[in-house]
Amino acid sequence: VDAKARSAREREYIDVKRPWPMAPEEWEASAQEVLPQQAFDYVAGGAGLEQTMRANRDAFYDWRLVPRMLTGTTERDLSVELFGARSPVPFFLAPVGVQALFHDDAELAVARAARNMKIPMVLSSAASTSMEEVAEELGDSPRWFQLYWLNDRDITASIVKRAEAAGYTAIVLTVDTLSLGYRDRDVRNQGFLPFIVGQGIAQFTSDPVYRSRLEKPPEEDLEAAGMLWVSLFPNLGLSWDDLAWLREQTSLPVLIKGVLSGDDARRAIDNGCDGVIVSNHGGRQIDGEIAALDALPDVHDAVPDDFPVLMDGGIRRASDILKALILGAHAVLIGRPYIYGLAVGGQTGVERVLEQLILELDLTTALLGAASIADLDRSFLTRRPA
Ligand SMILES: Cc1cc2nc3c(=O)[nH]c(=O)nc-3n(C[C@H](O)[C@H](O)[C@H](O)COP(=O)(O)O)c2cc1C
Repeated sequence: VDAKARSAREREYIDVKRPWPMAPEEWEASAQEVLPQQAFDYVAGGAGLEQTMRANRDAFYDWRLVPRMLTGTTERDLSVELFGARSPVPFFLAPVGVQALFHDDAELAVARAARNMKIPMVLSSAASTSMEEVAEELGDSPRWFQLYWLNDRDITASIVKRAEAAGYTAIVLTVDTLSLGYRDRDVRNQGFLPFIVGQGIAQFTSDPVYRSRLEKPPEEDLEAAGMLWVSLFPNLGLSWDDLAWLREQTSLPVLIKGVLSGDDARRAIDNGCDGVIVSNHGGRQIDGEIAALDALPDVHDAVPDDFPVLMDGGIRRASDILKALILGAHAVLIGRPYIYGLAVGGQTGVERVLEQLILELDLTTALLGAASIADLDRSFLTRRPA
């Protein structure tokens, strides 16, 4: 990305007071204007025909909110707390890799925005910035670490221990991406894969065990470091039995991200996991799979009420968050929308996106007649008439 062109654009918003985009679609369109085609396609695209991406959105339209009138509630408390991460609103920032594709300040800009807004950040294993640098920027702001379990236990153990030492209070093990999905847009863009050229592997180039696998340090040969990552990434042999080993490496709670059935939720519990995230990776992995929201009720029914269930995939507006909470999520993750904010306006762009969402959420909850998330039971939701 041309840094000069982009910062001139940011100044338009900040100094010239050009109005920020408002609706999520407008943020996406503005991001498309500033990003190189391949970076925009990397975030905006999904697997194959992108049916899963569309299904994630469509699923929300199948439900309608049912408000309660004259409840006399003037104050609202929408805060949640999960595994040492407290948030004033029931959402966290989803792990999104390779943020240097979208802004030069990358994860550091997002960390500053997260800290200012007091919203927990889930840092990606595929980030452009090391977990220690992000932790420093976050100060005492809450954070979790998302783990891609590379096909090398020594490296994985080292990564997990560093996350614990750097103050991340939970490990989010992503299980839907043991190999990257077939994404048409990236294939069309000459097989765009940032990792091959050493982008998005900062957790690994900063890792002593990973470095010990390289002939030359990454500072001298970044491409070789990228090729090693690409060779270690596929890990299709991973199974539920391996979780016992992960539990031995860390005392942190482990959440499984990518659960889409009650059966797998039960397996997660049976294997000692502390929470699940219902997710299809934003439709980036399997084309034509179940929408994340549609999988939520089955997962909810399979686990005890107090077992933490989060959800992501297609959350764009306040009503989406409320519907997911009513269907059993304890919190949701925001993905692409904050990345479009990052692309358009760096830290400030992320903050604007989050502010707009918080404002809409607070107002909509008030109008629904609820004072807290605990109030939001199934009576607030109905299926859309056939
Ligand atoms: C560009 C991009 C990169 C992502 N990188 C990761 C990642 O490194 N680890 C992970 O667990 N999920 C990753 N995700 C998935 C998100 O965490 C989340 O599940 C998804 O974005 C939710 O869908 P939505 O953004 O359409 O709401 C990524 C998503 C996008 C769009």
